[in-house]
Amino acid sequence: MKKLESDLSLNNSTHMPALGLGVFQSPPKETAEAVEAALRAGYRLIDTAAAYMNEKQVGEGIKRSGVNRDEIFVVTKLWISDYGSEQAKVAFDASLRRLGTDYVNLYLMHQPMPNEFARTIAAYRSMEGFLKEGRAKAIGVSNFSPAHLEKLMTETSVVPAVNQVELHPFFVQKELTAFHKKLGIITQSWSPIGGIHRYRPSDPSAVLDALSHPVTLALADKYKKTPAQVVLRWQIDHGYCAIPKSVHEGRIKENFGVFNFKLTAEEIADIDQLDNGVRGGPNPEAIDTKTFTFAINNSPEADSAARQY
Ligand SMILES: NC(=O)c1ccc[n+]([C@@H]2O[C@H](COP(=O)([O-])OP(=O)(O)OC[C@H]3O[C@@H](n4cnc5c(N)ncnc54)[C@H](OP(=O)(O)O)[C@@H]3O)[C@@H](O)[C@H]2O)c1
Repeated sequence: MKKLESDLSLNNSTHMPALGLGVFQSPPKETAEAVEAALRAGYRLIDTAAAYMNEKQVGEGIKRSGVNRDEIFVVTKLWISDYGSEQAKVAFDASLRRLGTDYVNLYLMHQPMPNEFARTIAAYRSMEGFLKEGRAKAIGVSNFSPAHLEKLMTETSVVPAVNQVELHPFFVQKELTAFHKKLGIITQSWSPIGGIHRYRPSDPSAVLDALSHPVTLALADKYKKTPAQVVLRWQIDHGYCAIPKSVHEGRIKENFGVFNFKLTAEEIADIDQLDNGVRGGPNPEAIDTKTFTFAINNSPEADSAARQY
C-alpha cells in the first residue's frame, strides 16, 4: 500500500489509513454497495467483523470497486464464540474465505473476556501465528481497558498494533488513549460520530447527538463543513483512526471530506470537554459467552447468512 501523509504508522512498520468505512449493522445487500461506493470515493480502509455477518458482502464490494486488493486495508475481528487456540484458527480461515482474500491487514479480538481470559490469551496466541505466517499483516484488540492490555501483554509476545474502542465527543477515553500512546498502540474509534447514542440510546428521552451540539455546529459554520466532518476531523487531529458507518453514498462521500482542514488546539479541547464519561456500548467487563450467547457458524454453507439486529 502506498503511504499517504495522513496514514498512521503501526508498531510493526506497517501503516493504516486514518479514516475508513465501518459496516456494523449494514444489511448485506447494502454492504456491498456501500463498500464499493466508499472505495470509489477514495476510502482505503474497511472495518468489518465475523459477528457483523457481512464479510462476504465486503469481499463482493471490494471486487466490484475495481480497486486492487493490495491498495486496501481490510480489518476484521474474531468473535468471542471462537476464542481458544483451535477455534480461532478455524474462525480466521472462515473469515478469509468469506472475504475472498488470503490475508487481512489487521485482525482484532472483538472483545476481551475478563471471565474467560485463558481463552482470550489462547486465541491471541493463534493470532500471533497468523501474523508470523503473513496472513494477518497486523494484529490487535478491541474494547480492551488498560488492565486488560496489561494482562494480555504479560502472557503474549506481540504488543497489539491497535485497540478499537468506543470513542466520540461524549466519551473521549482520556486515560485509555494516554496508555495507548505510552505503549505505541494506535487508537481506532468506533461510533466516531457518536452513532451509538442515536441508534441505541441508553435514555431514549435524552438522545445525545454530537452532530447537533452547539460546539460542533459553530465549528461546522466556521469551516463550512458538516457537523460529521468536524467530529471526524477532531478524531484525526487527535491521531486516531475513525471508521464511520453509513450505507448512504452521499454520507459516505461527506464523511471522507475531512482532509482539507484542521482544527486548532483550542477547538479540539472544546470538543474534548463534551465528555460525560458515560459509555454507550456494553461494559467490556461484563462480556463472556454466557451473557453474549450469539455464536458464529463457520461452515461454508452459512457464509451467506445475515445477522438480524
Ligand atoms: N469493535 C466494536 O465493538 C465496535 C462496536 C460498534 C461499532 N464498531 C465499528 O465502528 C463503526 C462505526 O460505528 P457506529 O456504526 O456504531 O457509529 P457511527 O459511525 O458513529 O455512526 C453511524 C450512524 O450515523 C449515521 N451517519 C453516518 N454518517 C452520517 C452523517 N454524515 N451525518 C449524519 N448521520 C450519519 C449512520 O446512518 P446511515 O448508515 O443511515 O447513513 C449510522 O446510523 C461500525 O460500523 C463498526 O465497523 C465496532
